[in-house]
Amino acid sequence: MNAAPPLRARLHHLQLGSPEPQRLARFYADVFDGACRQIGETWVCRGPARCLAFAAGEPKTLQVAAYAVDDAAVLDGLAARLEQAGVARVPSPTRLLAPDAIAFRDPDGNQIVFGIANAGSTPSSVVPGRLQHVVVGSADAARMADFYNSVVGLRVSDRVLDTDQTIKTCFLRTDDEHHSFAVFQTAQSRFDHHCYELPDWNAIRDWGDRLAARRIGVKWGPGRHGPGNNLFLFFHDPDGNWLEVSAELERVPDDRPAGTWPHEEHTLNLWGQGLLRS
Ligand SMILES: [Fe+2]
Repeated sequence: MNAAPPLRARLHHLQLGSPEPQRLARFYADVFDGACRQIGETWVCRGPARCLAFAAGEPKTLQVAAYAVDDAAVLDGLAARLEQAGVARVPSPTRLLAPDAIAFRDPDGNQIVFGIANAGSTPSSVVPGRLQHVVVGSADAARMADFYNSVVGLRVSDRVLDTDQTIKTCFLRTDDEHHSFAVFQTAQSRFDHHCYELPDWNAIRDWGDRLAARRIGVKWGPGRHGPGNNLFLFFHDPDGNWLEVSAELERVPDDRPAGTWPHEEHTLNLWGQGLLRS
């Protein structure tokens, strides 16, 4: 299949499943200085440039990943590509994007939405952290990477390849930031993590102190990823979901060819210990 034209979008919100969605909402409201409110059966926590929703479900599950686009022409192009590829659309599962949002399931069944963001009031906050990327694990990362590139229209920034050249990780972008979506090869398809971009390295230090004040331990990092070159620090929410805060994520010009990296610890963390998913 020919490469689709680039799709311009940015990650807008995620909905996570949890046996105790209200508990997760309280955690995110505290850690991110967000304001939470209940909409139907869903808890929605908003802050500047970030929005997370929580609903009843299995723990550590990604129920919805929603991307915002700037105009309807982007949606028209996406709709045409989905139809051409025979991908069925599903009713939009979110009220945080306009009703004409386009929703579908990727080859692993993840529910993905693209649409125009509804205006929503967000509280003022001094805690930086822009919702920036979401990552899933897949039992067939190559198929997922091809779907997001060829059908949805994301561009490939970097691939991590095994010695036999099979795809272990693929990083894809929806604007000039290195990745807003990525997929790891894993034994079973699953949610992996999501990330908030910070203005600089000092903000990562401040987040470490913020977590320490709440007795939330750092689980991985600080370090620097190879692909994307971003500084990072990982921690867990009460359900065990991985959260990442990041800074200095690479900006990728349109004409930069996709890169390749070897599947090794150094690729995942240039500074030391990696976290290999397979
Ligand atoms: Fe990440």
